[in-house]
Amino acid sequence: MTGMDVTFRRFTLAEADSLATFLTGEVWPYHANPRIDEDTVRRQTAAGHYDSDSARTFLIEVAGSVTGMLRVFDLDDGTPLFDLRIGAANRGRGIGTRAVGWLTDHVFTEFPQIDRIEATTRQDNHPMRAALRRCGYAKEAHYRKAWPTETGPPHDAVGYAILRDDWSTGTVTPPNFNDESG
Ligand SMILES: CC(C)(COP(=O)(O)OP(=O)(O)OC[C@H]1O[C@@H](n2cnc3c(N)ncnc32)[C@H](O)[C@@H]1OP(=O)(O)O)[C@@H](O)C(=O)NCCC(=O)NCCS
Repeated sequence: MTGMDVTFRRFTLAEADSLATFLTGEVWPYHANPRIDEDTVRRQTAAGHYDSDSARTFLIEVAGSVTGMLRVFDLDDGTPLFDLRIGAANRGRGIGTRAVGWLTDHVFTEFPQIDRIEATTRQDNHPMRAALRRCGYAKEAHYRKAWPTETGPPHDAVGYAILRDDWSTGTVTPPNFNDESG
């Protein structure tokens, strides 16, 4: 949504309450653990899950209210991954797409040694896949029946990534999947 005032504020320990309220107040069906309890968030916070040498977290605010969170991790591993969550009441308003774009700019600007960013999601998570595509991520992987669920058969998982070169030139270079001679 154009004109919406979306800000990304780096999470600090002082904001553990805001983060816990946001994460425990929603159900996350596309995550391995759809419900998170407050103890878990506090334990994770104390253990550096949200902020450390290898991870950073940002609270996504619209008009001063926390409407989402973005956690990037494996920053010391060459290829970081990220977890993005927008509260149900605010989905479908373009915030997720803005967040993917902002995160991509942030990582490539702040970490000159990082040349690619990856994201894996469930095959049926169409909003996430659309946000990734719109931000220049290319589909690189399709893992059949790789995403177990408690209620039914496993889903497929899909992997996307963006390369620094593509980010800096505004292009999307798809992988060559037809590289087998027969
Ligand atoms: C996935 C998520 C981050 C996307 O954020 P969002 O703010 O809802 O997404 P946007 O409004 O930016 O929309 C992204 C795209 O999805 C499309 N979309 C939105 N809702 C949709 C739906 N129910 N079905 C299909 N497409 C949908 C939008 O039209 C847009 O595509 P477009 O750019 O081609 O028009 C958000 O929905 C979310 O937090 N979901 C729950 C947690 C989650 O799944 N996180 C990702 C884990 S990897």
